[in-house]
Amino acid sequence: MQYADITGWGKYTPPAILTNDDLATVIDTSDEWITSRTGIKERRISHINTAQMSTLAAKQALARAGVDAADIDLIIVATCTPDTLVPNTASRVQQLLGSNDAVCFDISAACTGFIYALQNATAQIRTGMASKALVIGAERMSWFLNWNNRDTAVLFGDGAGAMVLEASDVECGLLNAKLGCNSNSRDILKISNFGTDMDRYENPPKGLKIDFAGPEIFKHAVRGMGAATENVLTQAGLKVSDVDLLVPHQANVRIIETLQKQLKLTDEQVMVNINKYGNTSAATVAIAFCEAVEQGRVKPGANIISAAFGAGLTWGATYIKWGERVTPINDYVQTETECSQTALELLDIAIKGCQNEA
Ligand SMILES: CC(C)(COP(=O)(O)OP(=O)(O)OC[C@H]1O[C@@H](n2cnc3c(N)ncnc32)[C@H](O)[C@@H]1OP(=O)(O)O)[C@@H](O)C(=O)NCCC(=O)NCCS
Repeated sequence: MQYADITGWGKYTPPAILTNDDLATVIDTSDEWITSRTGIKERRISHINTAQMSTLAAKQALARAGVDAADIDLIIVATCTPDTLVPNTASRVQQLLGSNDAVCFDISAACTGFIYALQNATAQIRTGMASKALVIGAERMSWFLNWNNRDTAVLFGDGAGAMVLEASDVECGLLNAKLGCNSNSRDILKISNFGTDMDRYENPPKGLKIDFAGPEIFKHAVRGMGAATENVLTQAGLKVSDVDLLVPHQANVRIIETLQKQLKLTDEQVMVNINKYGNTSAATVAIAFCEAVEQGRVKPGANIISAAFGAGLTWGATYIKWGERVTPINDYVQTETECSQTALELLDIAIKGCQNEA
């Protein structure tokens, strides 16, 4: 049996920054409330769609892996904000990259999507069904947000992260996982009336909104990520002191701190970047992983745990043993990313549309 070494890491974080103070000009909120309740200071608003963000993150990951896009035989995009439902986002990424013939599909598991995708790609490589895979988490959450609803509008942001996985004889990559879903709690986090549930002709829905029971989700998140992490540590025969880095889903810094306390991890053992990006759903873990490598926080052979939760309620944790290489083979400079508009300018039509619906 082969292993699935992680040989490339990339991210795309859109240039337009929406600060808490910017938000306070359009919603009844404040920097003080958002920072103290969530740890978020700013988030990115994308001027390009999910497939384009995915492609830019993927190009960087491919360059760092020294892998040609044409040699990729599997592309999985974890997203709940696809450009189109049919065809899927992964096929557009294949087209933009030129990875002809690669198997392409999207995974819809909300914020747990990236680790669901990573587990799936790893399993395919380990069983010989794929040899070089691109695993991407990408979201344009700003498209879904209701700018009249301060409960959710302040939490989310846009972005993408990617990894290249390659078959290897060395024991590394994702070695253990514990994933699951608590469907009894499907209703506490959902986007209603979007999909075949919606009344297409008689009474089409006017606006989209994220139905959300914040404090309930908070409790589920801590319980779900904590239990999955302990399960994965047991499977791997590791103690908490063996963990070099925890890369958790970035939904709320208080959730991360509670998990950190529960597992008795030091600040050095926990990757946090929610302050810069907010919750980018399926992209948070991928972006945080990428930044951890860029910042030198991932050493050769490091023991890394990643944990996430999201709508479904999906949850999970993975144990990754990093391979030998922590430096890029090549680098890729994202030149096609300029945006002449500010975040508030990009959102102007959406904000006015929500205000008209109110
Ligand atoms: C959403 C969340 C940040 C709210 O934090 P909280 O401490 O639970 O806050 P509460 O929901 O108790 O709200 C406290 C008060 O702040 C108010 N409030 C909510 N959003 C606000 C905002 N953006 N600005 C100012 N006040 C706000 C509420 O109206 C409430 O007011 P009230 O006490 O007068 O009724 C927190 O519950 C959370 O992070 N939940 C999980 C995150 C999540 O589900 N992410 C998506 C899935 S991955």
